Amino acid sequence: MKAFTSLLTCVGLFAFFSSVTAEVEPIEIKGSHFFYKNGTAFFVRGIRYEPFGYELSNFNPPPDPLGSGILCRRDIPYLSGFNINVIVVAYIDRDKDHSECVNALADAGIYVVPQVDAGVNSYLYVWNQETFDYKIGIISSLANYSNVLAFRMTAAGQQPTDLLYFRAAFRDMRTYMSEVLHRSIPIVLSILPEEQEKDTIDYIWCHDDAADIVQLWMGNSVINCTSDQNIEDAVDFAKSLSGPIVLEGMRCDLYIGEFDDRNYEFMYDVYSDKGAAALSGGILDTYYGDWNESMTFG
Ligand SMILES: *[C@@H]1O[C@H](CO)[C@@H](O)[C@H](O)[C@H]1NC(C)=O
Ligand SMILES: *[C@@H]1O[C@H](CO)[C@@H](O)[C@H](O)[C@H]1NC(C)=O
Ligand SMILES: *[C@@H]1O[C@H](CO)[C@@H](O)[C@H](O)[C@H]1NC(C)=O
Ligand SMILES: *[C@@H]1O[C@H](CO)[C@@H](O)[C@H](O)[C@H]1NC(C)=O
Repeated sequence: MKAFTSLLTCVGLFAFFSSVTAEVEPIEIKGSHFFYKNGTAFFVRGIRYEPFGYELSNFNPPPDPLGSGILCRRDIPYLSGFNINVIVVAYIDRDKDHSECVNALADAGIYVVPQVDAGVNSYLYVWNQETFDYKIGIISSLANYSNVLAFRMTAAGQQPTDLLYFRAAFRDMRTYMSEVLHRSIPIVLSILPEEQEKDTIDYIWCHDDAADIVQLWMGNSVINCTSDQNIEDAVDFAKSLSGPIVLEGMRCDLYIGEFDDRNYEFMYDVYSDKGAAALSGGILDTYYGDWNESMTFG
């Protein structure tokens, strides 16, 4: 894309905060699974970490959960207490200093998957200077942290014509990371496990500009809890892909007034021998659960 070279001038904007210190054992992808660099397998025990109750729009961006060291330090003992090793964060404010929070997470052995397409005009599936700047700004501001596991984009429910957008985005984000930042951080594509989405994946997987990791969004099929059948289907689907598959949106909703008999048994399936052979773990919804007062996530 012609915009690529002119973008190099923007990088300086995001270079204010360069106090990057804490180090974690890097995670590598080998075949369909993650490994620590030392060879031990790494399974994602993740949770979505973002405040709800905010409209994602140009005018009302939600707070950046990695922008406050105080909040992170408050929450990390709870995340560690639940044995969480990955958080997924939707909205990143490029102008915030993330060092205190991201380093504190690294000290606790927690990896971060920032989303690069929440926020400003991001759900316009158009690859232009503005959408490029937005994503590259987030990538540049976080790429130095050793505990950034991957950058996430979401294709859930997109039209076939949007697939060109994803391929262009993957290509340019990768080129930028390798040529400008000298980093190569994997890219996650989030899709629905539905039949039509498999065409998305087939299409994207059949080109060089593929994603590195797929997250399957289980949230749409949640009634009381993510069902065993959903997990079985995801395991079957995973067999057709060559990269790691992580389930996301795993949860048990509870409506106010209902008896709480949630048991989270599906978690056993995800981390069973069969689940773990095909999947690389899962991401729960959510750390903050109070976006709708008639219902709780979790
Ligand atoms: C990342 O590290 C490079 C040196 O390796 C440095 O030039 C750059 O300013 C750092 N960027 C940020 C956002 O800290
Ligand atoms: C590899 O590193 C991880 C994370 O620091 C650690 O939990 C694991 O025990 C290490 N494995 C070996 C074989 O040293
Ligand atoms: C959840 O399950 C309970 C009992 O199995 C049932 O009574 C309730 O209607 C379910 N809730 C929803 C939203 O389906
Ligand atoms: C909250 O959830 C209820 C039940 O699904 C739904 O009817 C209502 O529209 C939701 N409210 C908001 C603000 O999303």
